[in-house]
Amino acid sequence: MCGIFAYIGPRDSAQVCIDGLKHLEYRGYDSAGLAGILEGKIHSCKEIGKIHSLESTWLQNPHPLKLAIAHTRWATHGKPSRENAHPHLDATHSVAVVHNGIIENHQALRHMLRELGVNFYSDTDSEVIAQLIQHSYEGDLLAAVQKALTYLKGFWAIAVIHKDHPDQIVAAARENPIAIAYSLERQEVFVSSDANALHAPDLDVLFLRNDEIALVMAHRVDIYGDNSLPVTRHAEKLLLENETASKNGFDHFMLKEIFEQPQAIQQAMHNRFIEDFGTAEFEAFPLAPSELQAIKRILILGCGTSWHAGCIAASLFEDIARIPTQAEIASEFRYKNPIISEETLVVAISQSGETLDTIAAVREVRAKGAKVLSICNVRNSTLVRESDACLFLRAGPEISVCSTKAFTSQLTVLALFGLLMARLRHMDKTTGQAFLAEFHDLPDKVAKVLRQQEQIQRLAKKYSQFEHFFFLGRHYMYAACLEGALKLKEISYLNAIGYPAGEMKHGPIALVNPLLATVALCGNARTYEKILSNLMEIKARNGPILALAPEGCQEITSIADDVLWLPPICDELAAIPYAAASQLFAYYIARERGTEIDQPRNLAKSVTVE
Ligand code: AGP
Repeated sequence: MCGIFAYIGPRDSAQVCIDGLKHLEYRGYDSAGLAGILEGKIHSCKEIGKIHSLESTWLQNPHPLKLAIAHTRWATHGKPSRENAHPHLDATHSVAVVHNGIIENHQALRHMLRELGVNFYSDTDSEVIAQLIQHSYEGDLLAAVQKALTYLKGFWAIAVIHKDHPDQIVAAARENPIAIAYSLERQEVFVSSDANALHAPDLDVLFLRNDEIALVMAHRVDIYGDNSLPVTRHAEKLLLENETASKNGFDHFMLKEIFEQPQAIQQAMHNRFIEDFGTAEFEAFPLAPSELQAIKRILILGCGTSWHAGCIAASLFEDIARIPTQAEIASEFRYKNPIISEETLVVAISQSGETLDTIAAVREVRAKGAKVLSICNVRNSTLVRESDACLFLRAGPEISVCSTKAFTSQLTVLALFGLLMARLRHMDKTTGQAFLAEFHDLPDKVAKVLRQQEQIQRLAKKYSQFEHFFFLGRHYMYAACLEGALKLKEISYLNAIGYPAGEMKHGPIALVNPLLATVALCGNARTYEKILSNLMEIKARNGPILALAPEGCQEITSIADDVLWLPPICDELAAIPYAAASQLFAYYIARERGTEIDQPRNLAKSVTVE
């Protein structure tokens, strides 16, 4: 989603910002722009579409800017267009603003400013910020931003420049991240909404907290709190993920990331086993065994794929650790009034660590005194900073909008955490060791699924003719179905519904007909017989069935039209290889249908709005 990059220092600021925006591309966007100051004038450039369009337009008429702000926009208020792209300038072209977030009272503010004679040039909520700042300006940019923000309702990360202050960028944040990284030696400062876009070496980094404002100059950064008083903040060293985003010869990032799973799972497990005790351990883990033993309930929060991982973990925690666990969709949960006792552990799952709904839900539970353990892939993320403890996925950068390796890494880490919790309770050592043995085989089993690439591609070709799909499963396989269906809909734009197979007869079976395909995930031994009966009911109504089933379970061949055989695996970990197969199936259907796989329509990698 939207991304901010700004720079002040000795280099060509426009080019530094364009390069910075390229590191934000993976988040998803539909237009981009930049603005900077030269000789008392704001110069700006905006383009719809990709950053290279912005770059080539800028390079037709470049200006040696000493400071610049830049933005990638993912449309919320107003369609993708040059007018709606950021930076937004005020009517006098004195102020330029880039903004992530949403201004909830922008209509009222527009109305107020129009009454004062201010003209607007875009449909965006963000433009009111530029107009308000100029309206509040009396010679001091910082003071003008401070005053303007008092009018705003909503949330934001902003970077602001003013034509009469060619040595200043003002940045501010509420519920949206802003990282400010600097080198005093080189006299340069970078501002970004995503610390992972800061690819310069040896930088010190500061993260703005809620309602803080920073005055950024090449040689210093001053931070002010919501009471306008200066805040002392110690900088951290910026730890960058050292992997670069390359497709490594694959046609798409999604395919590359699917094939990285055996290695990613290995990484997620690395040095996290204690074989002799049949348990798991986690590096630099701040929660003591006694604290973990005191936990009586677990609440899991996440969105999309991460919520699906949470649903599977909830069953697993109850099954093996006997801890009552519920998985909640963060965007729904934040509007409930939850009961959080001292004995509740909140587990927040997010690949990016920047999903606003998840972060907001975490803030809510922390305000109620809960301890939050996050499961995250991105080290410099907001969620990690706002959690009491974090278990990292170590999956490497996930670029494709469609989450794949993060999901299976999440499941691996969550299952290991479940094992630790179980061993701290009733699980005996031998059972723990047997469970660890299942983990050892996991990367090979996933690799075995991936080796069936060609067969999956053939099945995808056949099933790509359908417009409607049910993904049916039971117990652990039900959430795996939610995930399989999500993969298919997000990249192929087909109607796919994940449903518990046993619920079909309570209504949805009315939809079954020869034009609706059922993908059945039969990887749960405990409910295997049950799903066979459910599939018989589909077959009796002439519904075509593709079953994903464990090798050796021959009964399915008399029911399903097609069967993809998967390696046998315990129920608790079965979602992992079944997810890999569903991902490849969705990928090849999308290829058949010619959709944009890594950047599907309407979607963004990091969902930083409500
Ligand atoms: C999955 O393929 C998605 N694109 C999406 O559902 C994603 O999982 C969700 O937005 C949550 O993201 P997060 O894990 O980064 O918080």
